Amino acid sequence: MKHWLSERLPIDFDRLRSLTNEPVPGHLKRWWFALGGTAAYLFFVQLGTGLLLLFFYVAEPGRAFDSVREISSAVPFGWWIRSLHKWSASGMIVALCLHTLRVFFTDAYRKPRELTWVVGCLLLFATLGAGLSGYSLVYEQLSYWGATVTSNLVGALPLFGGWLARLIRGGEEVGPATLTRFFVLHIAVLPAMILLLVAVHIALVRIHGISELRFRDQENEPRTFPFLPDHLLTELAIALTIMTLLNVLAVIFPAQLGERANPLQTPEHIRPEWYFYFAFRWLKLTTLRIGVIGTVLAAVLMVLWPAVDGGLRRLSPRRELSPLLGVAAVLVVVMLTIWEAVS
Ligand code: HEM
Repeated sequence: MKHWLSERLPIDFDRLRSLTNEPVPGHLKRWWFALGGTAAYLFFVQLGTGLLLLFFYVAEPGRAFDSVREISSAVPFGWWIRSLHKWSASGMIVALCLHTLRVFFTDAYRKPRELTWVVGCLLLFATLGAGLSGYSLVYEQLSYWGATVTSNLVGALPLFGGWLARLIRGGEEVGPATLTRFFVLHIAVLPAMILLLVAVHIALVRIHGISELRFRDQENEPRTFPFLPDHLLTELAIALTIMTLLNVLAVIFPAQLGERANPLQTPEHIRPEWYFYFAFRWLKLTTLRIGVIGTVLAAVLMVLWPAVDGGLRRLSPRRELSPLLGVAAVLVVVMLTIWEAVS
């Protein structure tokens, strides 16, 4: 069989095996250090469930809401697939936040992994964009008005804000073209971007290897262990556990549907998905322009953190400032999120 295959597919499988089977550092046996794989797994759950939803979703303002209602109530297992899609979106964002924290607090973004960090940040932003655009497709009151608020926020950006807002709205106001734009962003542009960025990210991780950490209880163990089958089996066990958790959440808390979008009636309380609570609360505390510019600057600061960190270390060679600033940033984000959640 091997001979038959190698005649038709002249690929050096032994070389391919050695290329995909680079030893990984011992600390990756701990889940906390292998969260990148969890994010990747949840992204594939998103792609699979999203693809199934596409068979029934209709991206047209007059029919979008009804098609989602039909998915939830009439399509066999539609409620389940929709709920898995929604919960895995939240799960992916949780995994990405934790992955970012572990990379940050283990200094894994430092030389030579600065580009891996930058690509990671772009992945985080693209994933948040996918969450935002997906929320608008449901065409319920909150998602419709969420799209309106988002496009107004984009419009408040200096220089190209107006142009960008018109581009995503498909006109001066939120209208029928907006749903098409959000739909294309959600099902094509952002997933393609994420796939491409994940490929570049993993390539960079392979080029530089994963940063090594040693723990006292691992002193007598070998420094590395094989990717195949050991690490793959750990990842599979994690995937099965997460799938169980997603199913439990989908059954106990299935995805809900609010009121149909009404462009003539602004709801009393507009609220985004939980992962935008911090930004929403921050925007409420400032004026529109300052809030938007502050958010963009924070994102730019995050992307450029490896360079900022280099400057800080030259300024204060004896005392590490990055972990302190990191803790402060996490506390601010958590505090703003809780504040928005309880108000
Ligand atoms: C879909 C999104 C992402 C995927 C699939 C992903 C995947 C991975 C994987 C599989 C690794 C190998 C080690 C591990 O699992 O932790 C890794 C490492 C890394 N990731 Fe990500 N990642 C993503 C997003 C991010 C984000 C948001 C950041 C930071 C802002 C980031 C920064 C890094 C860095 C710097 C490393 C190297 C860590 C080291 O060498 O110890 N990644 N990523």
